[in-house]
Amino acid sequence: MGISRRGKLVLLVLSISLMLGSACGRTNKDVSSSATSAQLQSQNELSASAADSGKEISSETASEETPTPTSSPTPTSSPTPSPTDTPSPTPTKVPEYIEPIITGGAVWYDGYVDPRTVRAEIVSNPSDVAVLVNKYYASPESYVPELVYAKYSAGQQLRPEAADAWIKLHDACMAETGEDLYLISGYRSWETQTYSFNNAITRRGLDKTCCKNAYPGRSEHPLGLALDINTSDDPQIRDNFIYTKAGQWVAENGYKFGFIWRYPQDYGHITGYGVEGWHFRFVGVDVATDMHDNNIMTLEEYYGKPQVLPNNE
Ligand code: DAL
Ligand code: ZN
Repeated sequence: MGISRRGKLVLLVLSISLMLGSACGRTNKDVSSSATSAQLQSQNELSASAADSGKEISSETASEETPTPTSSPTPTSSPTPSPTDTPSPTPTKVPEYIEPIITGGAVWYDGYVDPRTVRAEIVSNPSDVAVLVNKYYASPESYVPELVYAKYSAGQQLRPEAADAWIKLHDACMAETGEDLYLISGYRSWETQTYSFNNAITRRGLDKTCCKNAYPGRSEHPLGLALDINTSDDPQIRDNFIYTKAGQWVAENGYKFGFIWRYPQDYGHITGYGVEGWHFRFVGVDVATDMHDNNIMTLEEYYGKPQVLPNNE
C-alpha cells in the first residue's frame, strides 16, 4: 500500500518528536555516565592515537585517568635504639684514715699536737711532688718512691726529680755565694722515721718531739722530697743554718729550682712544727714559684689546709 506524501510528512514529524523526548529526559546519572563514556572514549582515542604514532602517553595524563598504583611503601625498619652506655657515676673517693693510737682526744704540748692522738687522712697522691704531708695528712706505709743517690751527700737518697734539682741548687749557690751546700738527710724509710720519733722522745722529751719530729707517715722524708741541709764544712743539722749566707741564699732563691723552706719561724701554728732552719722541700718549680710570687709561706696555706688548732677542734 502506498503512503501518500502527506502520510510521509506525518511519519517524519513523529520520528523527530520521539528523538527530542529522549534527549531532555536524561538524569544526572545518565549525564555522569555519559561523561564517563566520553572520557573513556577520549582516553581510547588518545591511546589509539599514541599507539598509532608510536608515542608514549605522558605519565601525567595516564595518572589522571587511571591512577597507577603506587608501590606500597616499604616498611622502614623501626629504629632500634642503640644502647647508650649507661653513665656510671664518678665514684667519690672515700678517704682512708690512720686512727689515733692513743685515744681520748688530741693532746697538745705548747701549741704542738701529739700526732699519735689525732686521726690522719692517708693521701691518695703520694707520688705527686707537691703532695701535702703533715700531722693530718699521712703518706701510705706501703709507699716507697723511686730513689737515686744524691750528689753532695754521704750516700743520701732522693727522688730523681729532687736529686736533679738539688744539683742545680747546689751549683747555683756555689756560683753565686761560694758556699758548698751539703745534704745531711734525704729519704728516710718508715722504719727509720719510727726509730727517729721514738728516740727523740727519749732524748728530748715528748713536748719537744711533738714540735720537731714527725711521726711515721707524717714526715716528708719518706717521700724522698725533703732535704736537711747545711754546708760541707759543717755537715750537721743546725737551727741557725737559715741565717747563714748559704741558708739565706737558699731561702731566697730555692723556688727557682723547685724548693721551699718548709717550716719557717712563726708558722708553727699552721705547719704543726716549730721552725726548722735546715729542712727544705722539693715541690717542683711551678708550685714553688707560685708560692713565691704570691707570698705564700707554707704548703698548708697554699692548699688552704692549715693545722687544726686546739680551740678549733
Ligand atoms: N723534722 C721534720 C718535721 C720531720 O721529721 O719530717
Ligand atoms: Zn727534715
